[in-house]
Amino acid sequence: EAKYKVVFARHGQSQWNKENRFTGWYDVGLTEQGREEARVAGELLKEKGFQFDVAHTSVLKRAILTLNGILDATDHHHIPVQKSWRLNERHYGALQGLNKAETAEKHGEDKVHIWRRSFDIPPPSLEDDDERHPKFDRKYSLVPKTALPSTESLKLTIDRVLPYWFDNICSDILEGKNVLVVAHGNSLRSMVKYLNNLSDEEIVGYNIPTGIPFVYEFDEDLKVVRNYYLIEEEELKARQEEVANQAKKKE
Ligand code: 3PG
Repeated sequence: EAKYKVVFARHGQSQWNKENRFTGWYDVGLTEQGREEARVAGELLKEKGFQFDVAHTSVLKRAILTLNGILDATDHHHIPVQKSWRLNERHYGALQGLNKAETAEKHGEDKVHIWRRSFDIPPPSLEDDDERHPKFDRKYSLVPKTALPSTESLKLTIDRVLPYWFDNICSDILEGKNVLVVAHGNSLRSMVKYLNNLSDEEIVGYNIPTGIPFVYEFDEDLKVVRNYYLIEEEELKARQEEVANQAKKKE
């Protein structure tokens, strides 16, 4: 029997989603459409009667701005918001900034699929002295430099996301708070893999569209009872397919 409910959402369309560029830890804002997706997500949650006591998000503005949009549309401006680098997108290494379709033309779709979706093969790494390395970003000045990634596989992403799930989010759930989590494609895939007990092969084909809330219901032991998206199956499939196809070569 379900006792707890947690709502998750991926941020709305970012400028680099729109330009189809690998983003990772690059801190890009939302497009007009992305802000609209956040508003619509909030309206949907309000219509369905969801209420929240606390929210968790990353330190990247596309997630924070999406959360703000949802809090605005649901009239939840008052709740505490916890931000952590552990909920950031997977670090995309030296691919950050490159166009996904052009990278597929250059290196082949198979190679890019490995970089995007293989479980434990990380994309090429940023050089240690690359000015884009997170150790040069003051947002991360309180994180030990040795803990900051220069690239990440999904496996490495899971290793830094799950401690936050257990220590910060689960404790809120167990206190009986209604929790909202706004994060990123691959930090959410990390939690989904764990929560649905998906194998390393199963998670490869699992894609999360932008801006659509999804719900997990848990029993008193935080075992998943059911999980579902708040849109129709058909639209969901189409939106997931879009994400899967981002690194197809252009015709
Ligand atoms: C990115 O970081 O580029 C996206 O947010 C997620 O990208 P992916 O679907 O290519 O892993």
